[in-house]
Amino acid sequence: MRHALVFGASGQIGRPLLAGLSRAEWRVTALSRDPQPDRPGLAWLRGDFGRMPALPAQVDAIFSCGPLDAFARWYATSDLACGRVVAFGSTSADTKLGSADAHERDVARRLRDGEAAVFDAARQRHAGATILRPTLVYGAGRDATLTRIAVLARRWGRFPLPRNAGGLRQPVHVVDLAQAALDCVATEVARGRAYALPGGETLPYREMVARVLATLQPAPRLVELPSPLFTTALFVAQLTGSATGLGEAAVRRMRSDLVFDVAPAARDFGYAPRAFRPTAEMFEPRAGDAAD
Ligand SMILES: NC(=O)c1ccc[n+]([C@@H]2O[C@H](COP(=O)([O-])OP(=O)(O)OC[C@H]3O[C@@H](n4cnc5c(N)ncnc54)[C@H](OP(=O)(O)O)[C@@H]3O)[C@@H](O)[C@H]2O)c1
Repeated sequence: MRHALVFGASGQIGRPLLAGLSRAEWRVTALSRDPQPDRPGLAWLRGDFGRMPALPAQVDAIFSCGPLDAFARWYATSDLACGRVVAFGSTSADTKLGSADAHERDVARRLRDGEAAVFDAARQRHAGATILRPTLVYGAGRDATLTRIAVLARRWGRFPLPRNAGGLRQPVHVVDLAQAALDCVATEVARGRAYALPGGETLPYREMVARVLATLQPAPRLVELPSPLFTTALFVAQLTGSATGLGEAAVRRMRSDLVFDVAPAARDFGYAPRAFRPTAEMFEPRAGDAAD
């Protein structure tokens, strides 16, 4: 039986990954900062990257579904024997690199540094590392974009967007990401490579939000505001604490296309993400495990 060590196993991608590993009959050791219940084939350890408990001396694969920079620092100094590593990063490594917002540029830099450190450490120990970069993630009611939009829209009975929020997006379901991790781990050609993992449909930001709102009962109205009016509404929402983290750079990006090529992942490990057909339970906050 193959043995996997999984970081970030309690997260929105980690949960469906655990389910997939169990179906594929892997034995799993998983790490969490909080107590978690063991079950047959799954043993939880308590700790974090800065305070690592005793780990198995050897595993067949390591999956990282937690913060990439912290994983990279731990992996660079770990002496655990393992020939295969699959770690999640983010397409934000590209999309936020030239942001006007210093915090966003820092996010991009830490993601890029994390990727480079994982590849370096893997090379030194003759292991094969693959970095998977999701686009905009949804599906488990735990994402910071679409679930947040659904929560605010339910509260307000409407949802405002600036006019011309037509930048293209490719929302990707957490179960498709977990499947990608499972499919690429056994793929020779994926060793030493990074892949963008976009969703199976490319659509304008406005349309993406409209589909989320249409899942809710009663369906909140999408209100498109002229830019100055939207900026004022955003300012008020920031003052009341309901739009924290949504800065000018993020609003400007609603008009920019963030589009990634699915072809390399499709060619190398058969990545075939679903189209964006959201349902209400995908945006129930903390819905827990995403069903496939
Ligand atoms: N395109 C994007 O922008 C995008 C979107 C989503 C995810 N991602 C990437 O995909 C990966 C998974 O994201 P996710 O959304 O599934 O994560 P998530 O739901 O936010 O969960 C984060 C996970 O990381 C673990 N974790 C956090 N800090 C940790 C630490 N210091 N030490 C050990 N474990 C720690 C948490 O474990 P415990 O709480 O159990 O300790 C949790 O399981 C991340 O690398 C993320 O950057 C990218």
